[in-house]
Amino acid sequence: MSTPEPDLALFEAAGGQAGIETVVRAFYARVFDDLMIGYLFRRVDRERLILVETEFAARALGATSVRYTGRPLREAHAAHRIQGGQFDRRSTLLRETLLACGVSEPVRAAWLAHTEALRALITADGPSICQAADDP
Ligand code: HEM
Repeated sequence: MSTPEPDLALFEAAGGQAGIETVVRAFYARVFDDLMIGYLFRRVDRERLILVETEFAARALGATSVRYTGRPLREAHAAHRIQGGQFDRRSTLLRETLLACGVSEPVRAAWLAHTEALRALITADGPSICQAADDP
């Protein structure tokens, strides 16, 4: 039988649902103000987004008792035509927020890896590739 214990430990290390909500709130403060992706959120209900994203992240960190009440991710993002570089920008803001909130390394790594694994549901683009002008 598989055990959910290691993942549940991550949820607890993140401060449970209240700790995760604090991070998600700080994250969306950055996202909504961001020059590159903030415009996408102009008509979005911020409080509802914080609520469902907190549920989503709690489950990603192992909280089996939390239910995600939002829409499937592919459906929620389909109308926005999100580019690979915009996906990367969101990940950068998430990384910066996790650090600023003092979240422990194992939680940061798991949260960011989970996000990266979902890329194909959010954007049709791959990760952006930076090539130096003098590359062969
Ligand atoms: C794996 C990465 C991502 C996760 C886990 C995620 C998570 C979520 C969740 C849970 C929602 C709420 C769904 C609902 O409305 O029921 C949402 C909505 C939204 N997300 Fe994301 N998201 C991701 C990537 C992105 C990216 C890269 C962007 C843009 C740069 C983005 C822009 C939006 C917008 C604009 C909405 C509101 C959709 C609407 O109401 O029309 N998301 N996201």
